Parts: sequence; structure tokens; C-alpha cells
Amino acid sequence: MIRLEHLSKFFGPPAHRTAAVDDIDLELPAGEICVLLGPSGCGKTTTMKMINRLIQPSSGKIFIDGRDTSAMDPIALRRSIGYVIQQIGLFPHKTIADNICVVPDLLGWDRRKSRARARELLELVGLQPDLFCKRYPKELSGGQQQRVGVLRALAADPPVMLMDEPFGAIDPINREVIQDEFLKMQQTIRKTIIFVSHDLDEAVKMADKIAILRSGKLEQYATPEALLARPANAFIANFLGSDRTLKRLRLLRVGAVMSAPPESLRPDDPISTARSLMHASGLAAMAVVDADGIAQAMLTREAAEHGGGSVSAHAEPVRASIGMDADVRSALALMLAHDMPVLPCIDAAGRLQGLLSYRAIVRNLGRGERA
Ligand SMILES: Nc1ncnc2c1ncn2[C@@H]1O[C@H](COP(=O)(O)OP(=O)(O)OP(=O)(O)O)[C@@H](O)[C@H]1O
Ligand SMILES: [Mg+2]
Repeated sequence: MIRLEHLSKFFGPPAHRTAAVDDIDLELPAGEICVLLGPSGCGKTTTMKMINRLIQPSSGKIFIDGRDTSAMDPIALRRSIGYVIQQIGLFPHKTIADNICVVPDLLGWDRRKSRARARELLELVGLQPDLFCKRYPKELSGGQQQRVGVLRALAADPPVMLMDEPFGAIDPINREVIQDEFLKMQQTIRKTIIFVSHDLDEAVKMADKIAILRSGKLEQYATPEALLARPANAFIANFLGSDRTLKRLRLLRVGAVMSAPPESLRPDDPISTARSLMHASGLAAMAVVDADGIAQAMLTREAAEHGGGSVSAHAEPVRASIGMDADVRSALALMLAHDMPVLPCIDAAGRLQGLLSYRAIVRNLGRGERA
């Protein structure tokens, strides 16, 4: 766990001093990612550098796992913290393997052990060790260099990582790839991470908690979902943008928003049965399932309105369906693209598990805002 207590940093002479970091209190549980988010100059890098003691706080304290860092040996402290700096900062005259092993070498690890570790790490991010170990940084693309920057911070397996815009200088498509890669890695390595970003989408994707900074002050500290649903003030609401509701959809799982199908409709049920079921459930459409519970067709309320016969005479084939683990943004995109007011939600075997409607989405968003 990392705890910042009344942490401040002033720059400049006493008469004209300005606060780069202004009385920040923050607690981050072990194994989680906290994203510091805020405009340029709001104090993100300064906060990071106080944690690994590259900058001395003007006042306040920092605790890592309950230990006051000001009482620790700064060199030992820094070696226990992986640091990915804002500009990639690989050593140009060292090979990739030697760059990754900077800290293990400082710690005096056995060379065979550290080089094996470098190969293992490269493998983890899809860079073939045989190809990359002996190369120099300038022989790598920007994205590859950023990956190596992250690996270097991980090499000595530190419990804490500080990552200052680690994926900043990279195009949006590759950035998504590296983010996914890193999140997957984090599921196994479970580091305690402070991650700086000024990209809201990145923050929402990476963070367990987001800390919004403005002129050195902590404005709000909350989960991405709580932040997007309930921004604490107008500055934050403005910073999050008018499409924050759309961003929230990405955090919601289909399984948590869908409603259980009222009763399954079968193709040879009389249409009058369907009509009364739809009336009772208020759904704009229902799925028609076969004997195995697979959704075969959709029956809209409009199509069921008039005429007789069986359900199959009024239903139309399923144009799209979605898994329960998918996010609601993808689901909504399908609903819009296929003009489906109700989307069947299916399990891995393709069996119908629920129905997702516009109304259920709106209701769920509203609940989040009131929570
Ligand atoms: N050594 C220094 N001397 C004086 N002022 C400084 C110093 N370092 C940083 N500052 C000031 O402190 C404030 C916070 O800087 P910091 O580098 O922490 O911002 P940041 O949030 O990381 O910004 P960016 O997103 O641009 O990287 C800025 O106003 C900056 O000008
Ligand atoms: Mg910075």
C-alpha cells in the first residue's frame, strides 16, 4: 500500500513560491493501478518524483507498506520501485538486453539469471529475444522502445511501479495493443502502480482508481465508474467531457445490465401468447428460441401487433447477439448498426441468457448517477 499524507512541494523563493503539489492525501491499496490524471503542469511528475525521492517534499509524508520513505535509504528505496520515465530514456549505447538489466546489474544479480530474465520479459510482450537482445534502442520502433522501457522497470521485480506517461509517444492503435498487453501482465504480476496520463480514455481503461489533479490539488479520487457517473465539480465534469456517459458504457458488462428473458418464446407458440407476454414485460422485442435454448429469431412488438397464426410467421432472423462478458458500448453499437431495440445476450454455448434493451441501459446509467 502507498499512502501520501499532506504531501506538498513548493518551488521558487519564499516570497514567490508556487505549489506544484498542494496538500495531497491519497491511499492506494497494494496490487492496484492508480492513475494520476490532469492537465499539463498540474503536478503529476512532481508527485512521482517525491515517491522515489528524486524530489524532496516541502512538507508531508509518504508511506510504502506502512514504512515512512523519508527514513529509508534513498538508493535502496529507488531500487525497490520500478520507474518508467516520461521520455523513454533508454541508454543509446547499451543493447536492449543490457538496458533491461540495468537494475539487476546494479543489484549484482548473476549475469546468467538477469539475461534469462530479460529474455523472459521480451517474450512476454511479443518481442523475440533472439532478434532484440543484441539490438540498440535506435534500431527499434517507438512502440518497441516503450515496451522495453516498461520491461526495464519490471526487471528486478519491484513491488511498486511508477509509470509516467509510459505509452505517451505512440500512435493510438499501438497504444491500445500495449495497454491490453500490460493489463494482461498486471493480472499476474499484481504490482502496486502509480500511472500518469493525460488521456482520459487511457485512464478509464487502466485505472482501478483515478486521481484528478488540478494546480497541485487533488480534486477527486474515485473509481473510473464513480468518476464518470458522479464528477465532484464543474471543472471535473468539463475535463471529462460531454461524452462521459458514452465512456461509462465501456465499463459496464452486458451481464450486469441485461434483464433475464421473461419466458422463452417458441416458434410455434400462438402470436397471442407472445403479445400478452410482451405486454406484461414491457419489452419492445423478444427472442424466439429453439429446443436447445439458442436464439433463432426476434419478434418485435410492432410485428406481433396484428394478425394471427404462430410466432414464426411474425418473427425475423436474429441479426446480431452479444456475449455477457462484452461491454455495453459494443452492445449499443450493435443495436444501432442493426436497428435492434433489444439485443439477445448469449452464453459461450450460444444459449439465450438475457435481453438488453435501450431502456435497461438508460435505467442502469441513471442508477449509477444516484449511487
Ligand atoms: N524544478 C522545478 N523548478 C520550478 N518549478 C518546477 C520544477 N519542476 C516542476 N515545476 C513546476 O511545477 C508544476 C508541476 O510540474 P510537473 O512536472 O509535476 O507537471 P506534470 O503534471 O507532470 O505536467 P506534464 O503533463 O506536462 O508532464 C509546473 O508548474 C512546473 O512548472
Ligand atoms: Mg509530467
